[in-house]
Amino acid sequence: MAIKTIGVLTSGGDAPGMNAAVRSVVRTAIAMGLNVKGIHHGYNGLIEGDIFDMNVRSVSDIIHRGGTVLYTARSPLFKTEEGVNLAVENCKKFGIDGIVVIGGDGSFRGARDLSLKGIPCIGIPGTIDNDIASTEYTIGFDTAMNTAMEMVDKLRDTTQSHERCSVVEVMGRRAGWLALQTGIAVGATSILVPEVSFNFENDIINEIKLSQKTGKMHYIIVVAEGVGNVHEIAKLVEEKTGIVTRATVLGHVQRGGSPTVRDRVMASGMGYEAVRLLKEGIGNRVIAYRDNKVVNFDIYEALNMEKPFDIEAYKMAYTISI
Ligand code: ADP
Ligand code: F6P
Repeated sequence: MAIKTIGVLTSGGDAPGMNAAVRSVVRTAIAMGLNVKGIHHGYNGLIEGDIFDMNVRSVSDIIHRGGTVLYTARSPLFKTEEGVNLAVENCKKFGIDGIVVIGGDGSFRGARDLSLKGIPCIGIPGTIDNDIASTEYTIGFDTAMNTAMEMVDKLRDTTQSHERCSVVEVMGRRAGWLALQTGIAVGATSILVPEVSFNFENDIINEIKLSQKTGKMHYIIVVAEGVGNVHEIAKLVEEKTGIVTRATVLGHVQRGGSPTVRDRVMASGMGYEAVRLLKEGIGNRVIAYRDNKVVNFDIYEALNMEKPFDIEAYKMAYTISI
């Protein structure tokens, strides 16, 4: 079936650069002679028919904005057969022949379900976690890393002045990529991630004591959200080392802000590729970035891939943190 009209939605946790991806999708589609419908609030909007026509000007002035102008949501109803059927009915009602879904792994599962029901979908990886196995890069990761790094740099000033230890929580319930990169960039004494088990005495207390012996007077411990409670970790560090220790949770600031060059460029390229596929009548694929190229994979294949954690970089971080 020739695709004439596509829909675009953002789903799951927002990520800086999603707007640049939406802009690219809309403009590429129109340039290729397709109609575009925006879908608000992720899969909820598809279920509820919160769908509107978009033109080239609908995406003016958004390339530099964080968040998503389409809004996003987590939709429990869409995880049910009933939800998917309602969404498919609305695709028919609004004349949507294919959809570009910008989100994480969960959103890709939804795209797979829609594709199975005859609505070709293309997934674009958008999450600050960089935890999608099929791709080396997800939109939003670079901006989030830079935000976290800037915040920890500020924290370092006061940590250094008071000769304290700071335990900083960065986002990542199930993924430590943001913690790893941020930890390396701020020169953290220890980095704790959900993918690597750690020994409190060895990997934190001994690391602090070792660097204390060579004259280090302040310490940054970067902890991914999924590892545990930073307030408890800070309390234990203070008890065991005698160093005044404070906990800081960076939280959702990491998800906001104007996207970096990398995120804008990546989002633009991925949006273009997604529409190119749909225009050719190809669905059930996800866009990925591999070996410096924008490529695509079958959704089933992509969802079954694994992304081993970068243990070498993790070891390197500890080696140079002394
Ligand atoms: P992300 O896309 O960032 O991983 P979520 O896991 O919250 O975020 O998924 C976003 C939405 O995608 C969910 O609210 C739901 O509507 C849909 N989704 C998630 N998992 C599935 C699934 N297993 N099957 C169908 N749809 C899903
Ligand atoms: O997946 C993106 C992310 O920001 C994770 O890093 C974090 O664990 C989670 O979403 C937080 O979700 P919420 O916005 O529901 O607090």
